[in-house]
Amino acid sequence: MNERTETAPERLDALADAAAALAGELSVDSVLETVLSHARRLTGARYAALGVLGEDGLIERFLTEGLPSEHVARIGAPPSGKGVLGELIRDPRALRLDDVTAHPAAAGFPAEHPPMGSFLGAPIRSGGTVYGNLYLTDKPAGFDVDDERTVLVLAAQAGAAIENAVLSQRLRELAVQDERDRISRELHDGVIQTLFSLGMGLDAARELVAVDPARADARIDEAVEAIDGAIRELRNFIFQLRPEHAASMGFARGLTELAREYEVNALVRPRLEIPTDVDARLPEALVPDLLAIVREALSNTAKHARASEVSIRVGLADGVDLSVTDDGMGFSGDTLQAGRGLENIRERARALGADLDLRSAPGEGTELRLAIPRHAAGSEDEEEQV
Ligand SMILES: Nc1ncnc2c1ncn2[C@@H]1O[C@H](COP(=O)(O)OP(=O)(O)OP(=O)(O)O)[C@@H](O)[C@H]1O
Ligand SMILES: [Mg+2]
Repeated sequence: MNERTETAPERLDALADAAAALAGELSVDSVLETVLSHARRLTGARYAALGVLGEDGLIERFLTEGLPSEHVARIGAPPSGKGVLGELIRDPRALRLDDVTAHPAAAGFPAEHPPMGSFLGAPIRSGGTVYGNLYLTDKPAGFDVDDERTVLVLAAQAGAAIENAVLSQRLRELAVQDERDRISRELHDGVIQTLFSLGMGLDAARELVAVDPARADARIDEAVEAIDGAIRELRNFIFQLRPEHAASMGFARGLTELAREYEVNALVRPRLEIPTDVDARLPEALVPDLLAIVREALSNTAKHARASEVSIRVGLADGVDLSVTDDGMGFSGDTLQAGRGLENIRERARALGADLDLRSAPGEGTELRLAIPRHAAGSEDEEEQV
């Protein structure tokens, strides 16, 4: 049973916790879940629900807390926004009732619906419109004006968090779109141009075959070389285009797969030094970012380094220590033209709370090293003790 936070300072604390939890949510769904559970706990309501409004002003999604999901399923179709819930939609202001069934708009409950008495509802406004309504029901002693204030504050925080989550979702979509545009532009300017001039070169070679076989031969050699180059370039693109693919198979297999793709692409087999139990010890949440970082490092080595040896090392003795090293031509910090690749690596490292170290010098290869301190890397040790 929920215990309502009794004193004002306790309640302020709990509201501050809710605000912090909401501010950290990146998806709308997790904002909704967080607001539901905090609203229920803060007020001591037995049940909490949240109705998201559709374009037609009716409830499009209905989330609940406090009732086992089998029971929710037995009740049948969720409310669409008639009865007292419709009252809140028509007049989006807090509504506090001692007995919801006594309200003039009350339309009665479906057969399997648990009895509900006291009621507190509040609209969640986001981005200038009413996003949905929060409903709390069945507090044994009834809801008081403090509960109402608390829920209004929480609803305002939820509205801001939803707007935030929607914006960051859009930004992520834009980033994906951006990346697609970049790739199609690069394909167009790069490999397609290559293939085009290759076709012209071969046409010219055909005319030379009879009159100057030696020059025709040389042209054909050039064409074969250009084809090899085009294949390498295309493989490099494929390598960049399949991020989720590798992430879904776990870190060890993901790295092995990246190494294999690198070999196909650059004709050098990277050396892998990874602890055998890496998948059991590395927090899963880190895997997609770490693989994306390794992928970009390898793609840089393939594109720029002309290396004969490449190594990927992972250490888990103290936090996470990851490095990708090559013995290729390196670069000098002064002349470096940072592209998106290194910028992306830096951003991911920052998000992971990792220290990033990129060392390179002309003729001396390149080392990219990432260290995630134990506290930022999460609970690999706790998992081991279980
Ligand atoms: N392993 C490496 N060996 C040699 N040069 C490298 C290596 N890694 C990076 N570089 C140099 O650093 C530059 C910036 O790398 P970055 O990944 O940011 O951009 P890019 O690979 O040129 O383009 P993008 O990643 O946006 O497709 C490269 O252009 C290259 O000159
Ligand atoms: Mg790059």
